[in-house]
Amino acid sequence: MTQDEAKGLVARRAAELVEDGMVVGLGTGTTATKFIRELAGRVQKGELKIRCVASSDASHELAVSLGMDVATLVELPELDLYIDGADEVCVSGGGELDLIKGGGGALLREKIVASAAKRFICVVDSSKLVKMLGKFPLPVEVVKMALPVVEPKLAALGLHPTLRMKKSVSQGLKPLLSGAGQNAKAEALAYPEAKAYPVALAYPDALAYPDAKAKDEANDHEAPGTGEPYVTDEGNYILDCACGRIEEPEVTAAEIRGIVGVVEHGLFLGMATVALVGGEDGVREFRA
Ligand code: 5RP
Repeated sequence: MTQDEAKGLVARRAAELVEDGMVVGLGTGTTATKFIRELAGRVQKGELKIRCVASSDASHELAVSLGMDVATLVELPELDLYIDGADEVCVSGGGELDLIKGGGGALLREKIVASAAKRFICVVDSSKLVKMLGKFPLPVEVVKMALPVVEPKLAALGLHPTLRMKKSVSQGLKPLLSGAGQNAKAEALAYPEAKAYPVALAYPDALAYPDAKAKDEANDHEAPGTGEPYVTDEGNYILDCACGRIEEPEVTAAEIRGIVGVVEHGLFLGMATVALVGGEDGVREFRA
């Protein structure tokens, strides 16, 4: 089973868990996109009448284009269910589900929408399950003008921050690399599961374009020397932190939150109530 198929499997299962009349939070990313499409299919067949709140402009636009009723938190401040992917999922010693999210740049709105939901079901393929968080670079969303203040403070914590850069096709990366960096890029683009590798820190465009043709398009649009920082839906920058093993996530989270100018970080600790994990064995379920 490919990673893409595993994502499709959990997306379908998650869509089956949505009940008529619910208010549903829509996540962001490739798995969430599959979920939105599955859910829209059920709505279109008349199986469900639901209202939704999206965690990004992209998911909002997709859901609207599929004929779904999408509102904002102003109208729907309480949600029954939030369904979203993750970059890493760790079942902690205490049985809680801890996540790293934000590979797709939507961590702030994702955390807000998740916090408004009674239940958060995380949907991932099995490559996202880890024993300890931190292999995937931890995204930290930062107010633009605070960047010169926040970056050295994150570096002083040993978190190795790198400013995420925009790609020329619908926001991603335009990295200014040469030599070994270019090889790393080719490697990231060649592997759909590139997110699992630190190089994905520098090339999230590889993540956004699951098929080779689209990746090529993204590649073609890259012109050296014209890189700009990635900007989130809320108008902030993202620093991707190559932390390595995050031994004490609560401590790391508190240290990052303590820096003035940090808006949010991608550690979602104890927020998910269920993780659905797709793989060769079908869908495994982990409950917090
Ligand atoms: C976006 C996210 C995504 O949920 C996360 O990056 C997983 O993405 P995908 O389902 O494409 O693997 O946090 O900000």
